[in-house]
Formats: sequence, structure tokens, C-alpha cells
Amino acid sequence: MKIERPRGTRDFLPEEMERRREVERRMREIAESFGYREIATPTFEHLELFTLKSGEGIVDEMYVFADKSGRKLALRPELTAPVMRMFVNECSVMPRPLRFYYFANCFRYERPQKGRYREFWQFGVELIGSDSYLADAEVINLAYRILDSLGIKFELQIGHVGILRSILSSLGTERASKVMRLIDKGDKEGLLGYMDEIRVEQDLREKVLSIIDMKGDEGVIEEAKKLISFDFTHLENLSRILRELGVEFELNLGIARGLDYYTGVVFECYAEGLGAQKQVCGGGSYELSSLFGGPKTPSTGFAIGFDRVCEVCDAKVKKRTTVAVISFKGLESHAFRIADRIRERGLRVVVDVMERSVKKQMSFASEISADYAVIIGPEEIEKGVVTVKDMTTQEQRAMKEEEAITTFLSRMRG
Ligand code: HAM
Repeated sequence: MKIERPRGTRDFLPEEMERRREVERRMREIAESFGYREIATPTFEHLELFTLKSGEGIVDEMYVFADKSGRKLALRPELTAPVMRMFVNECSVMPRPLRFYYFANCFRYERPQKGRYREFWQFGVELIGSDSYLADAEVINLAYRILDSLGIKFELQIGHVGILRSILSSLGTERASKVMRLIDKGDKEGLLGYMDEIRVEQDLREKVLSIIDMKGDEGVIEEAKKLISFDFTHLENLSRILRELGVEFELNLGIARGLDYYTGVVFECYAEGLGAQKQVCGGGSYELSSLFGGPKTPSTGFAIGFDRVCEVCDAKVKKRTTVAVISFKGLESHAFRIADRIRERGLRVVVDVMERSVKKQMSFASEISADYAVIIGPEEIEKGVVTVKDMTTQEQRAMKEEEAITTFLSRMRG
């Protein structure tokens, strides 16, 4: 019986995994160079970790199940809530601010399409304990540096959910959240319909519609100031420092973000070449600690959609030099031992495990694109040498083991 993989999931073959690991390596390197350290949280959590802030509505978008004791659990749809739970439970005495990063799979019950999966990976960071614009600047700068270093062409847009939230505050939390969600989806018709339904006053309606269209350089702050009374200092300071750092961005006061916990600056990056699912990074500042029983702790972070980034980035995997050790029947243990010695020097070595003839071992070496074959026969053993065949030039010559290794290593460096 042939069994298909579940909808919205993927298998990754070696070549793709090597590329993914290379992208991951670069992301880690940059995050670590900013002082972020890796953490990990469980793949599943108590359901309420995710419903506390977002309400029961979010259950439809998650993988939710009961364990054998009837506990309600959910596969994590993201990591910000788990990280803040961990922070409250484990990190109360650590010096602030805390800089954490993670690379992990997430699960969302969504309609699969190109770039949108039910199991996907996020590379994210959380900077915990600062409400300064400098914290937002660092996090945005970090996201920008990571995407930029991967050769991605992308647009960065920055907004502030505090602006929309403050004008929506008269609607109450639930209605305001629904409005924010419709704005996030870009569903203007739905937004108009819902505002009609809950009888939003004309004045407020117009303000919402103007704010969500405010997009451009710092001039939009001046425009917004004319419309609402709000303290724009944080956003102004952030814009100034990011310009000074050479981070290219556009302000977009209509960014609402899909998750409910954001309180201040929010940002999104959109990459070229991905079609509808072009958002490769999303983040912003939020407060979740007090909801999970900890002290109020302003935080900021982002998550990069790893799978989407892998689709468009230019990361290339450096091919590793591969050596195939080929032996005559009865000399297998010699093959295994010499293979171990070559491996110790950092090379990739494969030996025959199929009890094949020398000829078949040789054609396998060529099929897997080995760079060199090392042949061990009775004559070689007797003379204390190995025969090395360069699989590219087809040249073949007997040499001492050490010389062979030096030859392989020089190819690796070249
Ligand atoms: P998010 O915008 O929901 O934010 O997800 C972050 C990124 O994950 C998105 O920009 C997108 O690239 C990727 N992503 C989301 N859903 C899918 C999917 N179904 N398939 C493939 N990629 C997907 C968060 O999750 C927040 N926790 C980010 C954050 C961290 N905010 C503060 N700290």
C-alpha cells in the first residue's frame, strides 16, 4: 500500500537539505554575531497558551488534540508565545535584555498553496526586556542584515499598531481585534461590511480608511499627526536611526499583523518572486509576559519564513570532496580502516557495503560523482600503497596513503 504524506507537508531530499542547512547556518551566524543565543521549546504546548490572547477563534487555524489524559494540546503555530512562557517560567533572574533566537518547525491548519504549508520552519529572534526604539532598531536591523546577506530582493515596511489600536479603542477589544484582522488580510470589502455591521461612526470609519492607506517616507507621520493625537516620537526616532544605519524601508501605517499580541512598532518584509505568499518576515513589539503570570516585560522580535526564503535566496552549497574506497574481496577491513583515516582529515568517504565486484564499485563511485576512487588490492597491500583514480581526469597512479590524502585535501581547498 502506497502512503502519501499529509497535505501541506513536504519531504526534503539530500540536495535540498544541504541547501537548507547552508541557509540556516548563515542565519545562525548573523544572529549570533548580534549576541543572540539559541533556545528551544516543545513542539506542542497547552492549547491555552495560544488561545489566551487570541481567543478560541484561533483553534480553527491550529492542530489541536487531546492526549490520553484528556489534556488539550496544540502543535505550535509560532514561537513567540512559547518563548514568553519559557521566559516567565525559567528566566526571571537572567540579566535584561535577553537575546534569544530559534529555528523550529511550526504547524498551521491553513489551505496549502505555493509558499504556504501546514508544516513550515521559522527562524526567529526575541529581544526581551526593553521598550526603547533602540530595541526595535536592533531587531529590524538584524532581520534586514539576514535577508540582505542571502541576496534576497525584498521590501521592508514598518508601521505601528498603536496608532490603529488607539483609534479603535472605543470599539472594545474583540471588535477592534476583528477590524485589525480584516486589515491584516487586506480584505477591504470585509472591513467595510464589518464596520457597517457594528455601526462604526462616520468619523472613525474615515480615520481607519485613511490610516490604512498611509504609506511612504517619514512624511506620512506628518500626515497622520494631522488626523489623530498620538505620540509619534518612538516611530520618528526609529525611522531616524534606521536611515542612519542604511536600512532601506518604507513606513506603512496600515500594517496590522495577523497575531493579536503586538502593541507598538510592527514590520514586514516582502520578497520578489514568491507570488501571493511573498511575506518572508514579520515581527514587532509586544507584551505577553504579564498574560502568562510574569511581570510586564516589553519585548520585540521577528520570525523569518524559512521555507519562503529558501525559495528565493542565492545560497549555494559548497560541494564536499568525496572519496570512494574500493576494495577486493577479503580486503574489506582494510577499506574500512583506510576510510576512517581519511575521514579523520575532514573528507567524505564512502565504502562498499553491498559486497560488489571492483568493477561495480567503480561504476557506483562514478554514479555518485565521487572525486576520487581509492583502490585497495593485494598488490597495493603488499607494496604499502594505494591506487588513486582521479574520477574527473580518469588518471590513475599508486601512491603512499599520506600523499593520497594530501591530494584529496588540495582539491577540497581549491
Ligand atoms: P507571522 O507573520 O505569523 O509571525 O509568521 C512569520 C513568517 O512565517 C511569515 O512572514 C511567513 O514568512 C512565515 N509563515 C507563516 N505562515 C506560513 C505558512 N503556512 N507556510 C510557510 N511560511 C509561513 C509570527 O509567527 C510571529 N511569532 C513573529 C514574531 C516574533 N513577532 C514577534 N516575535
